[in-house]
Amino acid sequence: MRKHVIAGNWKMNKVLSEAEAFLENISGKVPENEKVEAIVCAAFPFLPALVEKAKGTKVKIAAQNMHFEESGAFTGEVSPVMLHDIGVTHVVLGHSERREYFAETDETVNKKVHAAMKHGLIPIVCVGETLKQREANETMSVVETQVKEALKGLSPDQIGKTIIAYEPIWAIGTGKTASSSDANEVCAHIRKVVGEIASKETADKIIIQYGGSVKPANIDELLSQPDIDGALVGGASLEAESFLQLVEAGA
Ligand code: 13P
Repeated sequence: MRKHVIAGNWKMNKVLSEAEAFLENISGKVPENEKVEAIVCAAFPFLPALVEKAKGTKVKIAAQNMHFEESGAFTGEVSPVMLHDIGVTHVVLGHSERREYFAETDETVNKKVHAAMKHGLIPIVCVGETLKQREANETMSVVETQVKEALKGLSPDQIGKTIIAYEPIWAIGTGKTASSSDANEVCAHIRKVVGEIASKETADKIIIQYGGSVKPANIDELLSQPDIDGALVGGASLEAESFLQLVEAGA
């Protein structure tokens, strides 16, 4: 039985006092059972404070990006060594906003996934098609290529530890959610691809999330699908109360 992983991606939102207040609000309220894992993906400056605040709670703290090198002359970048050093456990890689605005490619995502694995971070690898690609019936091939390229060169064991987030770009921040059956179809395809490149056992184990306008009103329906193991949530993760509702739905 796979657990549900609910990750809130705050993107470029909140100031430190708001970030800390959020964690105080949810601490002690996140279900303690093994069925659900709660992750908060915050901006770099808040990470040390949030890791500290999350100690002794079930909440894990993630970064939203990182560089693939360990150190060096890369002004403005943050390395996997630095993230691991401060107690961050997960890192979002290849989010569509990074692919679109910051020149992230399948190749850099792959380098970052390897670097995350090397330094004990769990990557949350984002994949997903544009509206144009969906309308041209290219969803499955686009997503398949992104998954294969992101996971290239990883062992089955490493692939099994990765989280994949299927986020159709047209559903992000638009209020449009993929229907639960459409979302499940793509997640099932991702699982099949993982089975081909790793093993059936890995495919059965890997966590595949859906992301794109997930909110308390649609989470139950999405999580009821057999191949959707959680959610990567933007807007609805910004309020402690709605984030908690999403986590409770996964418990
Ligand atoms: P929304 O939940 O705001 O649509 O954002 C989804 C997302 O991009 C999470 O990474």
